[in-house]
Amino acid sequence: MRKPFIAANWKMNKILKEAVEFTDDFKLYVKDVKDVDILVCVPFTLLSGMKKEIEGTNIKLGAQNLYYEDFGAYTGEISAPMIKEFAEYVLIGHSDRRAFFNETNQILNKKIKKALEHGLKVIYCIGEVIEERKQGKTKQVIETQLREGLANINDLSNIAIAYEPVWAISRGDPDIPAATPQAAQEVHSFIREMIGTLYGKETSQQLRILYGGSMKPSNVKELMAQEDIDGGLVGGASLKADSFAEIVNFRK
Ligand code: PGA
Repeated sequence: MRKPFIAANWKMNKILKEAVEFTDDFKLYVKDVKDVDILVCVPFTLLSGMKKEIEGTNIKLGAQNLYYEDFGAYTGEISAPMIKEFAEYVLIGHSDRRAFFNETNQILNKKIKKALEHGLKVIYCIGEVIEERKQGKTKQVIETQLREGLANINDLSNIAIAYEPVWAISRGDPDIPAATPQAAQEVHSFIREMIGTLYGKETSQQLRILYGGSMKPSNVKELMAQEDIDGGLVGGASLKADSFAEIVNFRK
């Protein structure tokens, strides 16, 4: 009942020429896919070019961040109305933003609200770091990220959650293991339960919860077989058209 949702997070990678090359191949690999939502989240500099590249295809476009004001003297920032010209989605709260750019749950809450106000769809990223997991604090961290990040947001119909255990994110190292499907499922089911408590059962059953952290062609099937894993947010393995297409085609 929840349509699978596979999203690429290119992070700070690709110049336009490389993005075009990727898309030329990728759109052919996935042209017949109807039963999976496909999204590519690209650097701001590629939004305009990629919008043209994906026109008329089954591929959707997203940004990776935004600032929570509409316009003004915020040198170097990009706002929701600017993104909305090109893209349908935005990632909010990726662990890179939390770790390197000091984005707190309070800041992320403002960003989510601003994105929704302008009709953007949001993937809100959450996840614990290794020290938190070792101290047995995973659920506590997840609960706080959900409560604070989603504070005063009443409608989740344009939000998906990405659970990304920070210790499983590849950071360019293909040998970092993903969370086991069981470990991922345990947290996904906790997230759904929490959303049920905060928003009711119907909303929690409709919410798509994506897994992120070293998802690749070799483990996608097993991860997607878990009851509460509805998709993936894919970094390293989304940079090559063939490997990302294999992930999108996980059912084959
Ligand atoms: P990864 O990145 O697939 O390279 O682990 C996922 C992410 O950080 O979104």
